Amino acid sequence: MRRVFPNLALPLNLEIGFGGGEYLFHRAQAFPEQNFIGAEPYENGVAKFLSLLATAWDVEALEARNVRVYDDDVRDLIGKMPNNLLDRIDIMFPDPWPKSRHHRRRLINHVFVQELERVLRPEGMLCIATDHEGYLEVVLSLIQRFPNFCWQASCAADWQKPWYGVHTRYAEKAEIAGRRCYYLDFVLKK
Ligand SMILES: C[S@@+](CC[C@H](N)C(=O)[O-])C[C@H]1O[C@@H](n2cnc3c(N)ncnc32)[C@H](O)[C@@H]1O
Repeated sequence: MRRVFPNLALPLNLEIGFGGGEYLFHRAQAFPEQNFIGAEPYENGVAKFLSLLATAWDVEALEARNVRVYDDDVRDLIGKMPNNLLDRIDIMFPDPWPKSRHHRRRLINHVFVQELERVLRPEGMLCIATDHEGYLEVVLSLIQRFPNFCWQASCAADWQKPWYGVHTRYAEKAEIAGRRCYYLDFVLKK
């Protein structure tokens, strides 16, 4: 999987459901010494991300860059990954599917977290942001059932700061609607 990048030795990040790609774009630009894979099945989101790239980078030379897109369900991609591949996984504002009859559509469930644990290397990071308090509780209590994932927050301020100061489209929507955003980061000790 690392072989899709020109420099295989760099830390490898995965962003799941990058939407319009603001956060992915910011990090890929800010950290040229890291590689990034973004997974997003939503066609318009992928198009928006590619047009962001095209405004900043030479489109003819994108292969030489540190970012790749997987335009489908991330579960298929993760299923093909070897153990201990990734250094960091970000899931920014996963769909909360608030209605109970839709809960089974939620991406983050026990099997999915097991897979994230498998593909993250020791000391790798799992970062999840949400603006939905009910989903926040569900995600926290689910991940706390995985003793190898250690939540990094030591005070409320730690989980209210957007990573890298970047607001995604969903973070902006939440702020306009007056909802608080929560940023959960876990280190994997295995
Ligand atoms: C609420 S949006 C958040 C988008 C973006 N991260 C943001 O913060 O603006 C959730 C995103 O997750 C994507 N998504 C949902 N299921 C997915 C899956 N199985 N694999 C990859 N992306 C998925 C959706 O297409 C959608 O773009």
